[in-house]
Amino acid sequence: MMLDSRSTSNGSPTHDAVKDYYGKRLQSSADLVTSACCDITQTPEWLKAVLTKIHPDVLARYYGCGLVCPPLLEGCRVLDLGCGSGRDVYALSQLVGETGSVVGVDMTAEQLSVARAHQSFHADAFGFDNVTFLEGYIERLDQLALNPDSFDVIVSNCVVNLSPDKEAVLRGVRRLLRPGGEFYFSDVYADRRVPAELRDDAVLYGECLGGALYWNDFLRLATATGFPDARLVEDRPLSITDKEVARRVGSVRFYSATYRLFRIDDLETACEDYGQAVVYRGTIPGAESRFVLDSHHDIETGRAFPVCGNTWRMLHDTRFREHFDFVGDFSRHFGLFPGCGGSIPFVAGDSKDAGTCC
Ligand SMILES: C[S@@+](CC[C@H](N)C(=O)[O-])C[C@H]1O[C@@H](n2cnc3c(N)ncnc32)[C@H](O)[C@@H]1O
Repeated sequence: MMLDSRSTSNGSPTHDAVKDYYGKRLQSSADLVTSACCDITQTPEWLKAVLTKIHPDVLARYYGCGLVCPPLLEGCRVLDLGCGSGRDVYALSQLVGETGSVVGVDMTAEQLSVARAHQSFHADAFGFDNVTFLEGYIERLDQLALNPDSFDVIVSNCVVNLSPDKEAVLRGVRRLLRPGGEFYFSDVYADRRVPAELRDDAVLYGECLGGALYWNDFLRLATATGFPDARLVEDRPLSITDKEVARRVGSVRFYSATYRLFRIDDLETACEDYGQAVVYRGTIPGAESRFVLDSHHDIETGRAFPVCGNTWRMLHDTRFREHFDFVGDFSRHFGLFPGCGGSIPFVAGDSKDAGTCC
């Protein structure tokens, strides 16, 4: 089957193939042929407590590849792109609490019906109902009843790689985020451009490999769509457990990675040094001793931490502001911030050997 990038009003052939994969072919994460999804024993303790309140039928159809729960979500309005059966929506529902809300969007009716079937179960368990599920395409978010500039956080877990028009997805995200909001999402990336014969294979595409972006093309696309400084939070190699799939994939290496993209107009395309620093106050719940912005910024409480102009803005122009003291301004430039590199960002080794999820 050929997969293409055309998009009609009903959905492209790629959409239909992916719907078939997640709606009909897969009944649970055990049916995936490349690797098992993240199991609950690998998740942090605080998240285990959240996940234990989620219905087993929802958990059984979880096909994510990472964690999409950034800190400081209470009261936030959150959107989940490609929410599937709703595991992350129901986890986020608890984290945003009664004063926040979560909207899940997915194009596959079977996935959404599992999510919706358990809405009252979760409302009873949490003591409030703050979630909505919408059927739609993540490339056409403007066709859904969602106001521009209205989301604090948009998340997505192992979905963007499946989209035939990733640029439209990122443009839609940028439109819906409020200034200072962020797109915090886990996805699959390749260490090179995926060859056409792998891209056009329905199983490899459905398993989140065929449509994966080469990491540097993703960074270019992010810049072109208004997110010039994508921050890598964590990454790990994907294991290709099926021998035949591994043979077909050959030398291409795949990684699951979580990036955060902030909607901040003044971000620059590189980390520029203005001699600034921040001091973390230790006031974010669950992050009292340190705040991890991304894989390069593990900020200890109470200690002056030199930052580039972009990092300064990611902490100053966002929901994190009141948790930091800020030193300096943009009046004097000292050149490129040391360590602003350009080689492959993933550090987690060889994807042929490591065990991981999705
Ligand atoms: C790998 S699953 C991940 C589901 C969910 N995020 C999770 O973690 O369980 C991919 C999901 O994205 C949905 N999806 C893929 N492409 C989509 C698109 N273009 N528009 C809307 N939903 C899409 C599929 O229907 C499927 O439910």
